[in-house]
Amino acid sequence: MASPDPYLRQPWLTVHGIPMVNAFAHNWERIDTFQSRPEDIVVVTFPKSGTTWVSEIVDMILQGGDPDKCKRDIISRRVPMLEFTAPGKMAAGTDLLATMPSPRVVKTHLLAHILPKSFWENRCKMIYVGRNAKDVAVSYYHFDLMNKLQPHPGTWAQYLEKFMAGTVAYGSWYDHVKGYWERRKDHPILYLFYEDLKEDLRREIAKVAHFLGQKLSEAALDTITRHTSFESMRDNPATNYRQAPSDIMDHSVSPFMRKGEHEVLGGLWRTVPPGPC
Ligand code: PPS
Repeated sequence: MASPDPYLRQPWLTVHGIPMVNAFAHNWERIDTFQSRPEDIVVVTFPKSGTTWVSEIVDMILQGGDPDKCKRDIISRRVPMLEFTAPGKMAAGTDLLATMPSPRVVKTHLLAHILPKSFWENRCKMIYVGRNAKDVAVSYYHFDLMNKLQPHPGTWAQYLEKFMAGTVAYGSWYDHVKGYWERRKDHPILYLFYEDLKEDLRREIAKVAHFLGQKLSEAALDTITRHTSFESMRDNPATNYRQAPSDIMDHSVSPFMRKGEHEVLGGLWRTVPPGPC
């Protein structure tokens, strides 16, 4: 008899040579043939690098800094994830995007060379967020413990080996950050760093607004800065993923809005050989 949850805790599959979340990998043609619109704004990162943070910032900017407008729906429906699908559980990203008015904000973790061609052809604006690989690994490990669309990560030591070998969903962190770093030379890409957002959130929000051609008053900038602090987003049901189905995301294992801080697990960093990270 077929399992009622055929996508939970399944090994990843491969698309265009890249390890992909099992549930997302089916019918990949829907991604390859996805039609962008020139006004689309793409928020793209390696997983756990600040996607939700910057998605909320972009939506706040487009809504003129009005927090109530950003509470109109949960973040995964305001900023759909292009490749997301979990049939029978949550709406697919491509289905949500098809119903949205422009300008759409599109979340994705796809590497530059497997992002649908249409985004490049339409010269859609992209905001890339890079985060220190060590913090990404720690965050991704905790996420894979709580997010059952991913295979179980095993122990931290096992997971770290896989992360450094690029055998986790979306592959190599190094290839990911480098791919968009190169593409920014000939495409409108604002390349941000998580650590810069931590250092001076207001400054980075102003940078995003400028890139999007949006004028913000000083008061609106202040409001967005307050609204997108770690504490505000952790306590906001529209951004903290508490409304995701609990059989997919188990917040009792680890909350989605976990710490938002630099952290090193176990001291293993000193014992592993230097790798591409
Ligand atoms: S995902 O699942 O790939 O889309 O995750 P993503 O949103 O990219 O990254 C989740 C991590 O970002 C942290 N986060 C924040 N940090 C600081 N300030 C704000 N406002 C914020 N919002 C999200 C979140 O806590 C995850 O990091 P860790 O280190 O696990 O806490």
